[in-house]
Amino acid sequence: MLISPEELQRRVGEIGQAISRDYAGQNPLLIGVLKGVVFFMADLLRAITIPIEVDFIAVSNYSPEASQRGVVRLVKDLELPIIGRHVLFVEDVIDTGLTLNYILRNLQARQPASLEVCVLFDKSEHRLIDIPLKYKGFDLPNRFAVGYGLDYRERYRNLPFVGLLKPAVFQNAATS
Ligand code: IMP
Ligand code: MG
Repeated sequence: MLISPEELQRRVGEIGQAISRDYAGQNPLLIGVLKGVVFFMADLLRAITIPIEVDFIAVSNYSPEASQRGVVRLVKDLELPIIGRHVLFVEDVIDTGLTLNYILRNLQARQPASLEVCVLFDKSEHRLIDIPLKYKGFDLPNRFAVGYGLDYRERYRNLPFVGLLKPAVFQNAATS
């Protein structure tokens, strides 16, 4: 276990307070990418004490080659227009930054009043594109983490803590 449920709740609460303070009177729109962010988003929204709205997009990678270039396909678009809105993009984990960069360019083209990023887990060792993070929860080591939304082949998202997989789990998954 890397991060306990209590540590997660405490830090998410702090971020919620900071957002409530910084965006007071601005009715911000929080946007998340399905599916990993739903756990963080659900807790964050309940830690925010000002009026806010929420929306989701979903993306899928065309191919490993395309995703290495940071090209993703939007498979579910926003339901709300964002022109003139104060948008806070909420993401579970940023690694290379390629996915996030692609999505931010897409959102920026829709002319929000402002566009900032809130990320729970930052794996900065692999970063290829520098993206300013207005809110950040935790730094993670350059290891594969699971839990609190993070999955390994769609599993382990629902763990209430963040942990590292034992090497045996990878090996079993590779041979089964
Ligand atoms: P990147 O920033 O474009 O490299 O992509 C980040 C994406 O890779 C995230 O949205 C996750 O889906 C996935 N990812 C990166 N690191 C981890 C991890 O440690 N555990 C689970 N998923 C991860
Ligand atoms: Mg993801």
